[in-house]
Amino acid sequence: MTSLHERPAGGAVGEAVPHESAALHVTGAALYTDDLGVKLAWLLHAWPLQSPLPHAKIVALDPAPALEIPGVVRVLTGSDVPGVNDSGVKHDEPLFPSEVMFHGQAVCWVLADTEDAARLGAEAILVEYEPLPAVLTLREAVEQESFQGSRPTLRRGDVQAGLAQSAHVFSGEFELGGQEHFYLETNAALAYTDESGQMFVQSSTQHPSETQEIVAHVLGLPSSAVTVQCLRMGGGFGGKEMQPHGFAAVAALGATLTGRPVRLRLNRTQDLTMTGKRHPYLARWTVGFDDSGKLLALQAEVYSDGGWSLDLSEPVMARTLCHVDNAYFIPHVEVRGTVCRTHKTSQTAFRGFGGPQGMLVTEDILSRCAPKLGLGREDLRRRNFYRAGQTTPYGQPVKDADRMETIWDTLLVRSDHAARQAEVSAFNASSAHRKRGLAVTPVKFGISFNFTSYNQAGALVHVYKDGSVLINHGGTEMGQGLHTKMLQVAATALGVPMGAVRLAPTRTDKVPNTSATAASSGADLNGGAVQNACHQIRGRLASVAAGRLGVHPDDVRFEAGQVFAIGHPENGLDFAALVHHAYMERTQLWAAGFYRTPGLHWDREAMQGEPFKYFAYGASVSEVEIDGFSGAYTLRRVDILHDVGDSLSPLIDLGQIEGGFVQGAGWLTLEDLRWDTSQGKGRGRLATPSASTYKLPSFGEMPEVFRVGLLERATETGVVYGSKAVGEPPIMLAISVREALRTAVEAFGPAGHGAELASPATPEAVFWALQEARQALVVAADD
Ligand code: MTE
Ligand code: MOS
Repeated sequence: MTSLHERPAGGAVGEAVPHESAALHVTGAALYTDDLGVKLAWLLHAWPLQSPLPHAKIVALDPAPALEIPGVVRVLTGSDVPGVNDSGVKHDEPLFPSEVMFHGQAVCWVLADTEDAARLGAEAILVEYEPLPAVLTLREAVEQESFQGSRPTLRRGDVQAGLAQSAHVFSGEFELGGQEHFYLETNAALAYTDESGQMFVQSSTQHPSETQEIVAHVLGLPSSAVTVQCLRMGGGFGGKEMQPHGFAAVAALGATLTGRPVRLRLNRTQDLTMTGKRHPYLARWTVGFDDSGKLLALQAEVYSDGGWSLDLSEPVMARTLCHVDNAYFIPHVEVRGTVCRTHKTSQTAFRGFGGPQGMLVTEDILSRCAPKLGLGREDLRRRNFYRAGQTTPYGQPVKDADRMETIWDTLLVRSDHAARQAEVSAFNASSAHRKRGLAVTPVKFGISFNFTSYNQAGALVHVYKDGSVLINHGGTEMGQGLHTKMLQVAATALGVPMGAVRLAPTRTDKVPNTSATAASSGADLNGGAVQNACHQIRGRLASVAAGRLGVHPDDVRFEAGQVFAIGHPENGLDFAALVHHAYMERTQLWAAGFYRTPGLHWDREAMQGEPFKYFAYGASVSEVEIDGFSGAYTLRRVDILHDVGDSLSPLIDLGQIEGGFVQGAGWLTLEDLRWDTSQGKGRGRLATPSASTYKLPSFGEMPEVFRVGLLERATETGVVYGSKAVGEPPIMLAISVREALRTAVEAFGPAGHGAELASPATPEAVFWALQEARQALVVAADD
């Protein structure tokens, strides 16, 4: 059996195994990048000098006073760079700037024997700045046309004609906030020249190959002279897709110039003030519906706040445009995306990669328009779902469109939606100061990188003479369970128990030219490559076994460490014994695997093509209760039904869905990034630079009842062992929490009151929205 999706009997895929490092995580034994430096003699510590201004020319920089501090060894500045002074791939991110572009930007780095000495050294450096005007908010940027990159338009049909035909036309504006990744492990790198004279960098990076490229171009070396390893990350969430490169380059430059190992680890405040976040957005829209509530046309201008440099802002915007439709068919579409330049951290990938922002815009539109159309929100949503045969505005047929309705209808039944809606109404009628809300929202999310070339992966699988197996693949582990899934895939493809397979850390000298572990595609791509390598080896082993068993190689079965002729499991060979025979017969026992996702194409100028292999579907029902005095709320119950195909690893997938949902709820209802936008001394400073001012979801905000189900009979034939990607889609399930808050807020107002809700809908924002609802009630009573 060599097809991609078919599962052999008795394989390890589909088993609910714990995360491969679960025990290490909970005992503290799991090693991260910064744990590795303590074992090195002569270690140097790096500390940044951060700019106190959001935008300024650097007129003078005198590092001499730093060198007076005991323990300071060297100050790294732009003149030290032997190669290219840039930390990105767009060449708009100088590693050592001559013009400061955001408050907190590193101007130079100090290396010292201790972290304290490096910090004191940085404090001693004299910098003279010439302040320049700074653009801080999205609205300022739009007004001043402070834009960067291309301005793509997603187009289908004739939006003006569509609006002209519409029985109902509405316009509005919506501003939504960003999000801090707040991975537990901050950015870290450790670099040294290894025993063979090459640059070796340990980096907490989702994209080791790109970290390698940037380190190489900063040092002026070929890629072959640099190796990057990522053992594991304590979370990445997209924040380590591009941002780690500069930190790795600083460590590598320091190691090159001093001949000593250099460790760089940001503390929490540095990480929050120096690295990019989820893009905030501003959308201005006009939408048209026919008499029955069917969407006819959507015209919108969508602006994202990209911060000081492009980073991944253009592909993030592309994904926004490819997800404004969410689960809905819209015949006439014209949506233009613009990335704004502001003097803030460079906003970057974050779980969903712009998709959530696009979907949120449309979900907000539907909820605001439903009362005006005189339709229930569930009803309005359901009647606009894609039907089989329809295509997205970018021209891709919506594969398995009917799954959305199946999930929706099943979830409404399983969550007892109708009865609970009645209960909520009854509760609200009898409760003056506490109100409840119930809402359901859908998710459709495209899987694959929009950038077609990224949809490839490699793996290296070794079978040793004793039958033990070592695998290497190009993906990185950030807690999402990719390595666990890869162990399951390898064990299944070779027909051995999981315990027989070991996984080695991700390194660029083992598997080259890897894509970022991102776009939720880690398991699809690397799983395809691991399976391919294992199938090559198994094919060779089958020939050896066929000779011994007296059957055709096609009829040899590999199962649970036994190799036998089909139908005769009692008459088998031990896998290790077969491997030994194969070695003696001079059989190649290792293989390099490769996978490329077939059938993709994308024209990023025209914004047309089939960029996604398939869509992941899901829906969620959330129930909240709001306190009318404070706006504080509790999440009473959440029901989710989500499509992961045939799960490779159900416990892992469950964790991804729960974690994604909670992270989404944080983005939409708690986490509020504030910047000092005053004209005062702190202009441009991040005003929420720690956990005490930036509210993350904690146990208190977890749903009291949390029921997550995986869609059954969901085989995805185009993916390894019939599975689907799971990493990002669940974040958007949290939109139902925001919508539940909206309906609860409306219960404070007169019947038919439509509430507008800020995003994030923090308790404070909820309070002001319910005050408005109460006001409307007073006005209604006066009439
Ligand atoms: N889960 C954990 N625990 N930690 C993470 O950093 N990142 C998310 C998601 N789930 C993340 C996570 C993001 S942004 C992506 S793109 C995917 O995992 C990446 O991994 P995958 O492609 O293997 O799903
Ligand atoms: Mo995930 S935002 O694609 O790293």
